[in-house]
Amino acid sequence: MKLGIIGSGGREHALCEALSKSKKVDKIYCFPGNAGTSKIAENILINTDDFNALKKFILSENIQLIIVGPEKPLVEGIVDFFESINIPIFGPNKFASQLEGSKIFTKKICEKYKIPTAKFGIFENVDKAKSFIGETKFPLVVKADGLAAGKGVYICENKDNASNAIEEIFNGKFGKAKHILIEEFLKGEEMSYFIVSDGKNIKRFQTAQDHKRVGEGDTGKNTGGMGAYSPSRLINKELDEKILEKIIQPTLKALKDMNCIYKGFLYAGLMITNNEPYLIEYNVRMGDPECQTIIPKLKSDLLDIILACIESKLDQIQIDWHDINSLCIVLCSKGYPDQYKKDMIIKNLTKINLDQNQKIYHAGTKIKNEDIVSNGGRVLNFVNLSTTFKKARESNIKLIEEINWPDGFYRKDIGFNVIE
Ligand code: AMP
Ligand code: GLY
Repeated sequence: MKLGIIGSGGREHALCEALSKSKKVDKIYCFPGNAGTSKIAENILINTDDFNALKKFILSENIQLIIVGPEKPLVEGIVDFFESINIPIFGPNKFASQLEGSKIFTKKICEKYKIPTAKFGIFENVDKAKSFIGETKFPLVVKADGLAAGKGVYICENKDNASNAIEEIFNGKFGKAKHILIEEFLKGEEMSYFIVSDGKNIKRFQTAQDHKRVGEGDTGKNTGGMGAYSPSRLINKELDEKILEKIIQPTLKALKDMNCIYKGFLYAGLMITNNEPYLIEYNVRMGDPECQTIIPKLKSDLLDIILACIESKLDQIQIDWHDINSLCIVLCSKGYPDQYKKDMIIKNLTKINLDQNQKIYHAGTKIKNEDIVSNGGRVLNFVNLSTTFKKARESNIKLIEEINWPDGFYRKDIGFNVIE
């Protein structure tokens, strides 16, 4: 089979590598991929916003299945586009992708189907939003409705912070804003919970915890994710059942009531308080770096899982996992998440030998004049499988030190909650 993968991050390299191991796969194309995927697939430089350009290439190369990594093309309807011309594609359609594309869409589902989440209000202008914050308690959370690459969320300690957030959002910082969401601040610990769905059946796809802040001790600015570990330290049988019963099932029922089925990965970002789950947000894809952390634990053939979803036969397969801990550290370009340099050569990468429990997934990298150079803020993902998180972290740090990239930095404390 010939596959196409949309995306260029560490998540897509991890998916690409797992799929390349399947006996059924003859060739993989990555749109556009990175230096890592170029070793196992063919990178194709096409603007992935241009569905017609993608279609032309996919038809000319006879690509039989498309797998979508990031949220943007999903929210923009890439699945509907390719389904309408009968090309199999793995991911939720445009309607279902509103779960990530519109926080207000999701909140309204939570309200109607009594899904536990932070109390909230929706306001259509600056005055109404400001009058609300004049008479409420702090901290609170102000959110832009649409996709904002993880930046449209403001945790506000006081009225001034909240006023500023309201003005920035209505002034169009994240695109034209018709509404704003103001939420109660939830206390607890966050967990990433994944399932895969074929439209009729769902299966669990592991848990993880990520570290979103740039600085050690979870301080400083928010990032796409500086590292993660799996499984989450919070998960237990009772909590798992509550998440499925109180959050996932009612959400899928809500979509069904609106004549929509959900196919693909679904990622619930949860706040766990006293073993009770609250939904913070949905993502209609795998997490990044959670995907890189989870995929190496997968024993089953990833292509079999995806094909079972495409054919609505997920109930007929079993998903097997290695019973092992996984920890991922992201090596970033100095300056990230603010300004950082690109095109910095990563010299020692080709000299590294990995054992079977170690992975290096590329994210922001590309090949330039036969060198591997940086091409983004998050550059490489180091993943290690081990009996303990401590050993996994030590092994990753050793590899990062061997690479000794002077233009990079990373957090040495990933997993501090689960490591003494
Ligand atoms: P979101 O993009 O909605 O996931 O929000 C980004 C991050 O902001 C989350 O991962 C949480 O750390 C934090 N956050 C969002 N909403 C809340 C909330 N209601 N209470 C506490 N923290 C929140
Ligand atoms: N790790 C957070 C995300 O993928 O959105």
